[in-house]
Amino acid sequence: MNILLTGGAGYIGSHTAVVLTEAGHNVIILDNFCNSDRSVLERLKQILQKDLICIEGDVRNTDLLTQALQEHKIDAVIHFAGLKAVGESVTMPVEYYANNVQGTISLLEAMKVSNIKNLVFSSSATVYGDPQYLPIDENHPTSATNAYGRSKLHIEEMLKDVANSDPAWKIICLRYFNPVGAHESGFIGEDPNGIPNNLVPYIAQVAVGKLPKLNVYGNDYPTLDGTGVRDYIHVMDLAEGHLAALNYVADHSGWIAINLGTGKGYSVLEMIEAFEGASGNKIPFNIVTRRVGDIASCYSTAEKASQLLSWQAKRSIQDMCSSGYKWQNYRSTLA
Ligand code: NAD
Ligand code: WQD
Repeated sequence: MNILLTGGAGYIGSHTAVVLTEAGHNVIILDNFCNSDRSVLERLKQILQKDLICIEGDVRNTDLLTQALQEHKIDAVIHFAGLKAVGESVTMPVEYYANNVQGTISLLEAMKVSNIKNLVFSSSATVYGDPQYLPIDENHPTSATNAYGRSKLHIEEMLKDVANSDPAWKIICLRYFNPVGAHESGFIGEDPNGIPNNLVPYIAQVAVGKLPKLNVYGNDYPTLDGTGVRDYIHVMDLAEGHLAALNYVADHSGWIAINLGTGKGYSVLEMIEAFEGASGNKIPFNIVTRRVGDIASCYSTAEKASQLLSWQAKRSIQDMCSSGYKWQNYRSTLA
């Protein structure tokens, strides 16, 4: 199949580009590089031994999207493009709605006029808000606690309406839990601008000596060791989940939401220990007060994905940490 990856130069998109290409699909990336670097294309070439087509542009440019869809005879779209920093979304809600919601409307317009109706959307476990029960299944009520999460919810709702309007639409919303780790080559990985907000990229930068110490946000949560528990999923498992989702949408009409998680949670202290094991380096840390807006625990049931997509995460937290460390070391050698 010919598959358009909006935001395909980013963290999850680039790993998915590898998996899809290796599975024999023809990948076309469209990205405006607002949160990624053009050098990822060279690094993808090192892994794949071939050039991928990349169109530089904004998903809000409907004419550009329409041209890309038609010129490359696209069969399905995976829509990764969007802004994703929770804290930033609280101070810049207009930019978040414009990029995420308006970007999706633009994509839907281009797909509609091009009569291309197979879509996989990057949603998030953030649409479950504060968990009412664990593990979280797809029937858990949805809500949002910040503008980023609300933009994902608005998009999911909009996609439901679109699917209801015409049975030709085949739409799957993948609700990712906490993606971490990197491709086993270490050539691509998560590359946040400035000081990382998320735990694993922060630990990785401490492990290579780029940052001195980790702040652990609270050890008084009702969890096994008092620190926050999350469902960390290896980005390569997540990427393989997209391949499975594409196979599913090919012959399932309508709208569906599916969790992509492992079904198991790990605490902050467990992640520190795993990273120390993978890197052989000590991760110094301080316990500080809780981060505003954080929850104690969040993890998924992975049953729906297993039943409907015949997919489940295979890689361990050791794999997540060792690949993340390999990437962080390689990243230090880049400009
Ligand atoms: P990322 O920032 O690394 O990748 C997003 C890519 O989209 C970047 O390359 C960026 O340049 C591009 N982009 C953003 N706005 C664009 C626009 N208007 N036009 C064209 N390109 C644009 O993020 P990621 O971690 O790879 O996340 C991909 C998707 O998955 C996002 O939609 C994100 O909300 C969602 N998601 C991510 C996580 C996570 O923890 N990483 C969790 C759940 C959901
Ligand atoms: C994990 C745990 C922190 C940093 C966020 C978004 C979510 C989703 C994924 C997109 C928590 C603790 C963290 C640090 C720490 N993204 N922590 N010190 O908050 O589960 O989810 O990313 O959809 O929407 O909210 O991930 O990695 O930030 O935190 O102690 O420096 O690590 O308190 O318990 P989170 P995270």
